[in-house]
Amino acid sequence: MKFLNGHEAKAIEGEEWKRQKSHWLGYADGLVRFSPGGWVLPTPFTKFADKYYDFKFRSTDVLVHTWAKCGTTWTQEIVWTMRNNPDLNHPMAGISVNARAPFLEFDMFMATAKKQDDNFLETFHRLCPGKDPSDGMFLQMTECAKDPRTIKSHLPLSLLPPSLLETTKVVAVLRNPKDVLVSYHHHCRLLNAHGYVGSLEEFVQYFVDDDLAYSPYWLHVKEVWEKREHPNLHIMFFEDMKADIMKELRRLDGFLETRLSDDQLDNVARHTGFGAMKTRAGDGGPASNHVNTEVLTKDGGFFRKGQSGDWKNKLSPEMEEKVNKYIEEKIKNIGVPFKFV
Ligand code: A3P
Repeated sequence: MKFLNGHEAKAIEGEEWKRQKSHWLGYADGLVRFSPGGWVLPTPFTKFADKYYDFKFRSTDVLVHTWAKCGTTWTQEIVWTMRNNPDLNHPMAGISVNARAPFLEFDMFMATAKKQDDNFLETFHRLCPGKDPSDGMFLQMTECAKDPRTIKSHLPLSLLPPSLLETTKVVAVLRNPKDVLVSYHHHCRLLNAHGYVGSLEEFVQYFVDDDLAYSPYWLHVKEVWEKREHPNLHIMFFEDMKADIMKELRRLDGFLETRLSDDQLDNVARHTGFGAMKTRAGDGGPASNHVNTEVLTKDGGFFRKGQSGDWKNKLSPEMEEKVNKYIEEKIKNIGVPFKFV
């Protein structure tokens, strides 16, 4: 099967799928690998791949573009607040950030969720009256969101429209691979859409083998880093945001041309702080109906720690060695100045 993006999809089958299936209860529709690149994605991606590649981004859009667990939700809230709510008086500010800043490709993760509740359907019919949910609820909610749209995607640049950066401002967030891995492990156990039931050790192996959904991480980072001089691309590091959020907000203000006052930037920093966002979201975070309550009670919700360096508490020396090898072999030569705080 060949797609507009020039990639071919191959179903993950045989022994490999047998192992994946036993670890990932959420991927009920299977997984595919897209080549070139070897991108691993849930099978429903194939239904929408051409639509994502042909998505009509606008000059008024801002795309928050990250790999999983790099601080996407934080950045969605920052960008949306800077553009819509710097005085903290917007009537829609209380609703879930994913409803205000839609997640372009989330339809591919609906294999389990669509069977569980119809909250998504109600929201879809309210936001996109007369549209057919089987054409992609999240895709269409993204299409019909009101201008100026803040959109989120974890898809690599090579699966998004080639004209993206010529059309639209893109805010990319990068995070050191060790914290990404630890945070993604929690996320995949917490959210039923992934339903991960394997061990952390096995998860590390999936990560270094580039076999997680959205893998390869290194290639996602490489594609972004190669475009770093593009005037429509703004790159932030999670670690820098943690170290000095006001500095990062000022840089972002310049990029987005939002021209906020110091008081407004203070508002944004306060409103998007970890504690404030966690309180507003409630325990489970943006997808609270779709979490594993045992994991939630024992290890926390979507807003887990919000820190840099938690990998030091989680990775054994053997696991760290595997990730170090991955970094040495696949990431180091890209030249991204990751901080392992
Ligand atoms: P941890 O699991 O390390 O706590 P994403 O939104 O891309 O899924 O990223 C989620 C990660 O960002 C989680 O990391 C989450 O706790 C953290 N996060 C979310 N909101 C944050 C905020 N306002 N400040 C700092 N970290 C935040």
